[in-house]
Amino acid sequence: MKVTIFGTGYVGLVQGAVLADVGHEVMCVDVDAAKVAALQAGRVPIHEPGLAPMVQSNQAAGRLQFSTDAAAGVAHGELIFLAVGTPPDEDGSADLQHVLAVARTIASHMTGPRTIVNKSTVPVGTADKVAATVGAALAERGVAIAFEVVSNPEFLKEGAAVADCKRPDRIIIGTASSTAEGQLRELYAPFNRNHDRMVVMDVRSAELTKYAANAMLATKISFINEIANLAERLGADIEAVRRGIGSDPRIGYSFIYPGAGYGGSCFPKDVKALIHTARSTGFAPELLQAVDRRNAAQRAVLGERIVGHYGGSLRGKTIAVWGLAFKPETDDMREAPSRNLLQALWAAGARVRAHDPAAMGEARRIFGERPDLTLCTSPAEALQGADSLAIVTEWKIYRVPDFGELARQLKDRMVFDGRNLYDPAIVARHGLGYSCIGRPPVPPQAGSC
Ligand code: UDX
Repeated sequence: MKVTIFGTGYVGLVQGAVLADVGHEVMCVDVDAAKVAALQAGRVPIHEPGLAPMVQSNQAAGRLQFSTDAAAGVAHGELIFLAVGTPPDEDGSADLQHVLAVARTIASHMTGPRTIVNKSTVPVGTADKVAATVGAALAERGVAIAFEVVSNPEFLKEGAAVADCKRPDRIIIGTASSTAEGQLRELYAPFNRNHDRMVVMDVRSAELTKYAANAMLATKISFINEIANLAERLGADIEAVRRGIGSDPRIGYSFIYPGAGYGGSCFPKDVKALIHTARSTGFAPELLQAVDRRNAAQRAVLGERIVGHYGGSLRGKTIAVWGLAFKPETDDMREAPSRNLLQALWAAGARVRAHDPAAMGEARRIFGERPDLTLCTSPAEALQGADSLAIVTEWKIYRVPDFGELARQLKDRMVFDGRNLYDPAIVARHGLGYSCIGRPPVPPQAGSC
């Protein structure tokens, strides 16, 4: 099928590559000329496993093209996807200006029937707004052309985006039109083979499904973080509690890992947007507000712990930080807990030596040159001259460190772990102090390495 995708961010680019890979003819359109030029040259601007080779091979096969030409995009695709950003407004609501601008662009170039498919995460009622915008723009042109607006939210996870997109656990289609449903069934047939993963519903339910899914997952994380705080105060071990509750299949093991709080481009923004939507109906979303507040507090925990350990000031101290991305396998630092940590460390007067396997360029872009930040090319380099170590992202490379070397390098022999990566007994055996989330702390032992 011929498909056009507006927006070459995570969602649009990954979806475009994956659709082209099964044989569809895909044109990706973006207003960012520099980005389009890079993509045309086969350079993929995001770190996402498997994406670059997939983009390059499908470009070479002529099934995937990139353009800034909106008119050509509208002419190309019988299905037109909206995959542009919906950044949060000041009040937490999703800003629809990009979505509605593309809707107007599509309407201004349409010469025949089109099905507009919304993949961006948008508030309930947006499909209706897009339909009204397209309808008004067509009326202005004095033409009557049939079109449908469908909601088809995306559930991919950064770092596993290609795999998630190739093997979706569900394909949500919000439409009342059997024609549009038929088109999307044909489009997704290669991904829907062994059992029917397609769940067809009305458009508002599809829009709400996306928010409900992310809010449910965010709730699980804030819940376990709340219990972790309680465990610390009660002398219990959250890792034992996690395994104990996860073994109940009604609860399950996934998304109950305590940590430094959730980050990324989705959960924080989507929970806030859903709170805003709920309030706009006159309903007070007590639970969602608590989830959001717990997360804000949780993102401060690691910084508070380190500053507290040093009695309120980090003047003269150097803290090594392992991990800057909001999670492993991505270079994305949007809403990353590492940012809260670094700000807290700097506010208390510390110098930071940071390492991340993928996000160093992003860190340089965000923080620029500053005397209290050294970006290091290896985890070992970050330790040089450091007083203690903080871990914020659970990259594989940090999972089995040389604890003897840590004990030798870190002047204060302290490891602050926001991801509970290690067995406290092993860390203790090397004379290191260990402060993690929801577990009894281990004090450092002087002179034992
Ligand atoms: C999420 C959803 O998983 C995906 O379905 C949706 O389409 C977009 O939002 P993503 O933001 O890429 O995907 O990352 P995810 O792996 O879900 O992690 C989000 C955050 O939660 C990370 O900061 C992660 O560290 C944190 N997290 C996750 C925890 O703190 N504990 C957990 O148990 C799981």
